[in-house]
Amino acid sequence: MRSFVSEPTTDGPVSWSVLGKLGSYLAEYKGRVTFALTLLVLAKLSGVGMPLVLKRVVDSMDMSLLAEKGIEIIVVPIALLIAYGTLRFFNVFLAEMRDTVFSRVNERAQRKIGLEVFQHLHNLDLEFHLSKRTGGLSRDIERGTRGINFLLRFGLFNIVPTLLEIALVTSILFINYSGVYALVALISVVAYISFSIFATEWRTGFVRQANLLDSQANSRAVDALLNYETVKYFGNEAYEADLYDSNLTSWESARVKNRLSLGLLNSGQALITAAGITVMMVLAARDVASGNMTLGDLVLVNAFMIQLFIPLNALGFVYREIKAALADVSTMFALLDQKPKVKDKADAKTLGAGSLPVEFKNVSFHYHKDRPIIRDVSFKIAAGEKVAIVGRSGSGKSTLARLLFRFYDLCDGQIKVDGTDIRDLSQHSLRQQIGVVPQDTVLFNDSIYHNIQYGFPEASEQQIQQALEFAQLSTFIDKLPRGWDTKVGERGLKVSGGEKQRIAIARVVLKNPQILIFDEATSSLDSKAERAISDALSKVAKNHTTLVIAHRLSTVVDADRILVLEDGQIVEQGDHNTLLQKGGVYSALWEMQKSDAEPAIN
Ligand SMILES: Nc1ncnc2c1ncn2[C@@H]1O[C@H](COP(=O)(O)OP(=O)(O)O)[C@@H](O)[C@H]1O
Ligand SMILES: [Mg+2]
Repeated sequence: MRSFVSEPTTDGPVSWSVLGKLGSYLAEYKGRVTFALTLLVLAKLSGVGMPLVLKRVVDSMDMSLLAEKGIEIIVVPIALLIAYGTLRFFNVFLAEMRDTVFSRVNERAQRKIGLEVFQHLHNLDLEFHLSKRTGGLSRDIERGTRGINFLLRFGLFNIVPTLLEIALVTSILFINYSGVYALVALISVVAYISFSIFATEWRTGFVRQANLLDSQANSRAVDALLNYETVKYFGNEAYEADLYDSNLTSWESARVKNRLSLGLLNSGQALITAAGITVMMVLAARDVASGNMTLGDLVLVNAFMIQLFIPLNALGFVYREIKAALADVSTMFALLDQKPKVKDKADAKTLGAGSLPVEFKNVSFHYHKDRPIIRDVSFKIAAGEKVAIVGRSGSGKSTLARLLFRFYDLCDGQIKVDGTDIRDLSQHSLRQQIGVVPQDTVLFNDSIYHNIQYGFPEASEQQIQQALEFAQLSTFIDKLPRGWDTKVGERGLKVSGGEKQRIAIARVVLKNPQILIFDEATSSLDSKAERAISDALSKVAKNHTTLVIAHRLSTVVDADRILVLEDGQIVEQGDHNTLLQKGGVYSALWEMQKSDAEPAIN
């Protein structure tokens, strides 16, 4: 059972409206759902039929009748017994059929909802993703889909048939015997259910506690083992063992309490079952004695009562899990209700290809209203021109790039591409035309080949070869035993910063958009490699509208215009020579970098 209850689940508010939403996903499969429900009813009917046949078997085997009628009577119970066996088989077989028929519906609902959430998350803005832990998101989705599975399987195929069975049995008892029998069955079932729910609520705290301590002890042990070297450096084996053991001690007592409470739950349930059956049997025995009932009726009543309690056995578990599943599914659906801050307008235009000029017009922006980041910035990049932005770290350079890519909407002013405000363009078409080599490149945990191909999935091998030669990756790849099939590791941690940047350059070259943004694209390269790549980048930039962000000024001397950004404001602009002559911030920066004795500068 532990695998089901793995971790303490989300403690969100349980919303029953979730069921309605789930139902709408089922609606698509009306036929299948109806078929599965029909099988469900048939399975239950054969289940309820068993005691009825059993009664006939017992009645027909009444010894006094047997003696009177002779041989012919022996045949009847055999036919009945075969009927009994058949019913028993169908009871299970139909339930299996039902699960198989329904499985597609269940799986499809999970797939559709999972996909919907995934797509929705990609539509949400960068801000949302920066403030949310990705690990947390994927856990929410995983739990949510598991919750849906549980709700559909257990909700539909445990709760519904159980209720159906209770209704059938009490009606049969009511119709065939006196109302007292139906009443006793009903009262004991209601008592059983109420007790189970009450006791389960009471137990939940213990179960949570035990699970929590379980994962706590576990993660502490894993942490200690991961820090194997540190433990050895400080000779702290005994200390770690003590810590682990004190965790285990609390775990032990929590488990014992948990077990004790489960024992109480099960015993209470058994008491109610036994009391119910006993009362029923007393009533039946009295009726048999007075000749109102046959022996078969007594067997029937007994069998019904036992059968009634079987599905209720797991009720405590199912109840707790359904509550948790509802909370998990609500959490996941809440994600779907999140609205993106950056949205396409209903009549958004599509940005065409061709040469695209860019204009920033009195742009102001802040992430938080108390701290302005970009202040009244205006500049133009003509189609095919190359403009550089330089400035200290934190001055807002990368922010300008993010604004052009429309990761955020402006607080004031306008950014125009090809004369159109980017808020009037569809995000997709805008981004299609912009290639970014970001400051911190993150790679997919896949091969180098795949990571480059990502820039243009339809690219041929030859085009990829060209791109990687362009980014000067070929010598590096030739040295790798597995060539471009080498995996780069999670987030690209198995390649160096410089290699990562070159992969990022190669994939943008492959994408071949009209507008290029290089955000310190060569900062992780050594001076020699940087010079080589800068030359290459200048070559691509020739026919493109290019925004280069750099802190090493040597890489931007050939720009058509250089903007010097300080505290989100442009304080100087002009080409390299003009700015040097001016003797302002730029020339001071230039002198400083030269005196840093960096041979790459010249
Ligand atoms: N998502 C964010 N939320 C809040 N502040 C941010 C965010 N991103 C960047 N900043 C802040 O904005 C300022 C400018 O950042 P950035 O544009 O990355 O500077 P740089 O010129 O070094 O590229 C920095 O001080 C940074 O702390
Ligand atoms: Mg930056």
